[in-house]
Amino acid sequence: MAASIKAKLQVALLAMAMSAEALVSPDGTGRVPAMGWNSWNEYACDINETVFLEVSDLLVELGLKDLGYTYVNIDDCWSNKELRRDNTTQRIIPDYVKFPNGIDGLAKEMHAKGLKLGIYSDAGTSTCGGYAGSLGYEDIDAAAWSEWGIDYLKYDNCNVPEEWVDEYPYYPEGGYPTPPLGYDYGASKTAQRYGAMRDALLAQNRTIQYSLCAWGHAHVEQWGNGTGHSWRMWGDIYPSWAGQDGYSWGLMPIVNQAARHWNDTGFWGRNDWDMLEVGNGNLTLEESRSHFALWAAFKSPLIVGTRLAGISEEVLSILRARELIDFNQDARHGEGVMPFAYEGEVPPSTNQTAHPPSHYVGTSAKGMHVFLLNSHDEDRDVEVRFGDVPGLLRGRAYLVHDMWTGEDVGVFSGGVTVRVKRHDTAALRINLAKGCAGTQTHPNPQWTPSTSHLF
Ligand code: GAL
Repeated sequence: MAASIKAKLQVALLAMAMSAEALVSPDGTGRVPAMGWNSWNEYACDINETVFLEVSDLLVELGLKDLGYTYVNIDDCWSNKELRRDNTTQRIIPDYVKFPNGIDGLAKEMHAKGLKLGIYSDAGTSTCGGYAGSLGYEDIDAAAWSEWGIDYLKYDNCNVPEEWVDEYPYYPEGGYPTPPLGYDYGASKTAQRYGAMRDALLAQNRTIQYSLCAWGHAHVEQWGNGTGHSWRMWGDIYPSWAGQDGYSWGLMPIVNQAARHWNDTGFWGRNDWDMLEVGNGNLTLEESRSHFALWAAFKSPLIVGTRLAGISEEVLSILRARELIDFNQDARHGEGVMPFAYEGEVPPSTNQTAHPPSHYVGTSAKGMHVFLLNSHDEDRDVEVRFGDVPGLLRGRAYLVHDMWTGEDVGVFSGGVTVRVKRHDTAALRINLAKGCAGTQTHPNPQWTPSTSHLF
């Protein structure tokens, strides 16, 4: 146990030494994971102004805005597919049938409600849906979005022309040529395509949160930190516990990948495990709870992807789980959770039969947190021995608190066993019990946020 933790910490220190200067933006934009709503998972291309206006009303009415869900993000299919760009200005032409008041009109409505508006484009010639992409038009598009009042950009990776394809691409799913020793992915064509849009956004007189949708290609985790505020690490999510459907993957394979990359996340830059499917498809409530708890714990952006009109109280209570949100948004600790009590290497996501690690530990301003995933098909008793938890002290009594209910479970010595339903995740906060001497140490080496300001 001790040896494997030591090895993990050494890897962590190495990763820290290699990390690029972070993209530090004014007013704390992008310091902690983005929270909001995005149209893709539930509406795909079937979007219009009314969808976003209704969502913005509901974010306010349901109390979600007050919990931090402030970005309302338009995904693919917002522009005029035939006309694409204005002949004179070269600007992308919005679809005025879908958005009669233009994107700028919608931005004004969002801002009037204290919300923000996000848009979507692609670092290729066309988006994945075949609408105008931004490659080669970065300055023109960034200027238009800034003028329209856009606050967030999701930048996709479809339709990359031949001359921009990397000789040594890296796909997390495998199937790529081995690069020469010391190959620098930060100098790859993929990094250049995403870097060009970063530079264009930085040249604007407006702060725009920058979300790279590079699907883990070209080892985006190695250069994403200096390029954007978050970077997609994998293909698309779909509302299924496990399995794969074309380029879309269920929750458990994605969790495996997230556990493998636990150390690539910090203030100003983080792995993005894709938008939430909580409330979608056939996910059970327990599965939706695991999804939310783990995305919060890994410090992934929390972008809701479900229909808010008619949302059930149970699903809403998951999205409103305040203590989980607080962990995700913690102002003192930027890093996500680390798997522990796991023997051997975490399996890759392509291994569809492997269970992801069940035990994760992290720290917040409020104490130590342990997340217990039951990926098995039956309810189980899951044990946490305090001596096994990096950062907890042996032989002390601990107060165990349930982050889902907000209630204390009790004071325990040695460890605690909790019943976790099939496919559910327990979320515990663990603090030294009152009157107990000793200090808790941090399980992960501290991520040191960069002090350099790129703006
Ligand atoms: C995919 C992306 C999805 C969604 C879709 C739109 O590439 O990963 O999240 O944006 O394109 O066409």
